[in-house]
Amino acid sequence: MRQNIKLYQWNFIKEAKDAEQAAAATGVPVTVPHTWNAIDGQDGGNDYYRGTCWYVHKLERPELTPGGRAYLEFNGAAMTAEVYFNGAKLARHEGGYSTFRVDITDYLLEENTVAVSVDNADNDRVYPQKADFTFYGGLYRPVNLVTVPECHFALDYWGGKGIKVTPIVEGTGAQVTVEVWVKGNPDSVAITLDGKQQTVPVQEGHGQAVFHIENVHLWDGVEDPFLYTAIAELPDDRISTRFGCRSFAMDPEKGFLLNGRSYPLRGVSRHQDRIGVGNALTPDMHREDMGIIREIGANTVRLAHYQHDQYFYDLCDEAGMVVWAEIPYITMHMPNGRENTLSQMQELIVQCYNHPSIVCWGLSNEITAAGGVTEDLLENHRLLNDLCHSLDKTRPTVLANVFMLEIESPLLEIPDVNSYNLYFGWYLGELDENDAFFDEYHTRYPDRCIGFSEYGADANPRFQTARPERGDYTEAYQALYHEHIIKMINERPYLWATHVWNMFDFAADGRDEGGEHGRNQKGLVTMDRKLKKDAFYLYKAHWGKEPFVHLCGSRYVDRAEAVTEVTVYSNQSTVVLYVDGKQFAEQQGKAVFRFQVPLSGEHTIEARAGEHLSRIFVRRVSQPNTEYMFFKTGDIVNWFDKEDFKPGYFSIKDTLGELGAQPQAAALMGQLMAQTSASRGDVAESVKDNPNLQKMMMKTTLESMLKQVRDMITPEQVKALNAALQQIKKPE
Ligand code: GCU
Repeated sequence: MRQNIKLYQWNFIKEAKDAEQAAAATGVPVTVPHTWNAIDGQDGGNDYYRGTCWYVHKLERPELTPGGRAYLEFNGAAMTAEVYFNGAKLARHEGGYSTFRVDITDYLLEENTVAVSVDNADNDRVYPQKADFTFYGGLYRPVNLVTVPECHFALDYWGGKGIKVTPIVEGTGAQVTVEVWVKGNPDSVAITLDGKQQTVPVQEGHGQAVFHIENVHLWDGVEDPFLYTAIAELPDDRISTRFGCRSFAMDPEKGFLLNGRSYPLRGVSRHQDRIGVGNALTPDMHREDMGIIREIGANTVRLAHYQHDQYFYDLCDEAGMVVWAEIPYITMHMPNGRENTLSQMQELIVQCYNHPSIVCWGLSNEITAAGGVTEDLLENHRLLNDLCHSLDKTRPTVLANVFMLEIESPLLEIPDVNSYNLYFGWYLGELDENDAFFDEYHTRYPDRCIGFSEYGADANPRFQTARPERGDYTEAYQALYHEHIIKMINERPYLWATHVWNMFDFAADGRDEGGEHGRNQKGLVTMDRKLKKDAFYLYKAHWGKEPFVHLCGSRYVDRAEAVTEVTVYSNQSTVVLYVDGKQFAEQQGKAVFRFQVPLSGEHTIEARAGEHLSRIFVRRVSQPNTEYMFFKTGDIVNWFDKEDFKPGYFSIKDTLGELGAQPQAAALMGQLMAQTSASRGDVAESVKDNPNLQKMMMKTTLESMLKQVRDMITPEQVKALNAALQQIKKPE
């Protein structure tokens, strides 16, 4: 029978010349899963260790039956790994997020040394190389020793389990094809499904059985994620896989359909890492993430930007989450990386094929951001697209396009469906430009499916304000931003899927902004999973089924305003507000309730919806609490006096379009902008010279633009810029 033993104890060696030196080195004992970037990958500065480290494990000869085989199984070695066994190099694997196995049988001794060099250094072949997240290095997912008898289910095809299940729903039943791949020349294999067993012949290592399930129990999303199990047996080996029967479609007008009915996909994206842990997660951590995603009421997860742990796809199957799965072909196309995109995609599909939760294969993410559309990039996408279709006839391909990619680009014609990542109202532009973008797309291409693959705004819960505005990093602006977007989404049912960026804050060591180092703070939940920002409850109010009420602003205690606005999110239709124990007001509504509460001293404010209750404490203060402000300097426009804006002359209040059309003004503006794009990570860096982006930004005022980057410029610089612009007369 097969055995699967987890190899936990390894010796970690930061530097070694080769496997021999690594095996002899003292090193540091570590438990795998392990990453060497748990701390330096999260502290900002983009200076985390990217190089080669070694892991060494001593292994006793496992017991094998005659003809049996032994494999080492790596579920995630980031990014490139070379496996040495008793000094012999047995494998090289490129790609940090998928499973691969190494057959060690022919090299086994009584005492064995496994030495694995793991490398996350930059190169021009293995994705990802440029992206807004930390590329942790290490053996960060479990490593197993798998032993099997001579006659066994294959273990060496692209990291798969040797079993593939294709269910097709037909009327009230389903036809289920189960294929297996076998080593050791057995004549037949027994396959069991739904209480029925078939023994089918094995030809050239392949066996196949077709089952008909009458009155099929569908896998029906979060409502009823029913799973079947298929079991395949040889005399001494046995494997099983769960699968689900469902039909789905994306429609340009109706959006997503699950099992024939409208099922708008509304949910979140997930990055896998955590504070202090990096990507070396425990099963408990995966379960906690799924618990939070369920709590918000999402029915879909985009598992960005790489292959996630098989355990997490399992949790999605069980929870009925519809999943967008993808490979880390991201931000910057590399002509030398073509082969790697194909092998990573092949692994993703082979390893994940049986998960009913997955409905599409993501070819790339914002891939034109750092170099535009080239013929080589298009060719790479066509090959990837064809590969997906040849490996999987049941799922469409999808792209997550960067906002400045023209909608008429030939790239959009390659995948089966498209989506856009838009950040109007955060990085640039106004909130309603999101609405306008989709309206234009849908009018121009009424026959194409379009989704909203990313949107979000950074919020640091330390920062609070009564007057939220774009770029201030406050919890209140994030909530306001999402209030706009969810309304926009609800009004556009044709959007086949929408995914908040991001469910959780995550590490991006290249970032240094909003009061944190090395962190993207667009999460609705903090990176330690402990704090749910107010915006979390907005979505819960729209999507969640469990009755609840949430009073926003619990961290905004000191308030200088005489009348404070209190926002309540709830999925109940009536909310009653109490101030200092007395009923203050009652409101009927949907999701968002607002009250104006006069402040005199210290107050306890309470919102009730039925038996549910949420309470905050506030205090009237004479001056705004500067601890709550990321920008201690206040509003840019308050730095100026009235006479700083002479009519008929340019100023920071003009739009980028107006300023750009006047050569002198354009030059002045350009100088300041150049200095400010560095600390927003790779993505911001790569968007700065994009002509399509600049076209989109025509309507943004320079003042609004400057607010976004005001941690990088001084009031003096802005004043000097305005004064210089004020010397330039506007054309009549
Ligand atoms: C992107 C990208 C993400 C990134 C996000 C952001 O456009 O796809 O990986 O984290 O935007 O800037 O927050």
